[in-house]
Amino acid sequence: MLDFKDYGIEMWDDNKISSFRRTLLAWYDNEKRDLPWRRTKNPYHIWVSEIMLQQTQVVTVIPYYERFLDWFPTIEKLANAPEQQLLKAWEGLGYYSRVRNMQKAAQQIMTDFDGTFPSTHSDISKLKGIGPYTAGAIASIAFNLPEPAVDGNVMRVMARLFEINYDVGEPKNRKIFQAVMEKLIDPDRPGDFNQALMDLGTDIESAKNPRPDESPIRFFCAAYLNGTYDKYPIKAPKKKPKPIQIQAFIIQNENGEFLIEKNNDGRLLGGFWSFPIMETDFLGQQLDLFENDSSALETLSKKTIFEQEYNLKPVWSEQYFTPVKHTFSHQKWTIEMVEGLSKKAPLLPSKDLLWVTPQDFDKFPMATPQKKMVQELFKNKK
Ligand code: ADE
Repeated sequence: MLDFKDYGIEMWDDNKISSFRRTLLAWYDNEKRDLPWRRTKNPYHIWVSEIMLQQTQVVTVIPYYERFLDWFPTIEKLANAPEQQLLKAWEGLGYYSRVRNMQKAAQQIMTDFDGTFPSTHSDISKLKGIGPYTAGAIASIAFNLPEPAVDGNVMRVMARLFEINYDVGEPKNRKIFQAVMEKLIDPDRPGDFNQALMDLGTDIESAKNPRPDESPIRFFCAAYLNGTYDKYPIKAPKKKPKPIQIQAFIIQNENGEFLIEKNNDGRLLGGFWSFPIMETDFLGQQLDLFENDSSALETLSKKTIFEQEYNLKPVWSEQYFTPVKHTFSHQKWTIEMVEGLSKKAPLLPSKDLLWVTPQDFDKFPMATPQKKMVQELFKNKK
């Protein structure tokens, strides 16, 4: 166990800890949100909800959660799901490696745990894609084990409670917050304790608009009592995502079908379908940085590259499209679209290409940048 004094933390005595637990849980009992995954102890369901909640907010997650369990009602169904349906289930949530890892974990459960979700913290932690936060959440909520679930919300609340002067964005500091939580967590109601802090951290004690005067635990909160609330949590500014310039080719044939391609190479968006896209090079990025118009020459050469790469010879149109922007965690894409009409020529077998009508787009997993492009395209067609 780490020594709190070494980290400038004044840990409370047992009485104060008990009083804190009672206060927090009494608030939770009155205020807790009624959420679908709070009506179950099924570890599979809780796992699904926790992974989705790492991506986005509760309101967005609910329909995804329900559809996911409808499509994959058992761990076995998830383990055997076809890739395209798996991606479809996650479409729009982003971070697709998470759902791929979930399938690998489901397969692990089938082979290593006889198809039953493991019930100890150490076994849960062996599953692909389950890190300390998720393992703690499942162990505490589904199995009532006294394991903290330390995410950004919980770290923020702890940082304020104890005026912790360690950067919450530094992975090496996580152990400090973990140790504080191990000390505080209610051994009788660990799942509720963790979820109470999650609710508090996403609303009253949020990062952007906290309402400290409404916090049920304000009289335990050192930062609140000492007038240092605004200083916590300590957090260095994040690195900006790298700008990436992308050229998209919107190719339609005489039957009104569009050319779409399955992305097989990259780690980003592998398995998803989109209009053919190419990352433009350094020059393209420079153009974006200087907010230049893309030069006619540039575009021309990209079209030539497309014609060679795809063995098609479209008639290019002059239609202007507003560039589509999409930000991933590490990359900020600006996608320029050019449009062309082509004969329904045979497609190169070396790529996964199809001619598809817009009505059939939703049969294919398509990520958000592609959806934004479709929107931009049809905005102009109306
Ligand atoms: N965020 C992550 N897990 C959560 C949960 N179980 N309840 C509410 N918000 C959450």
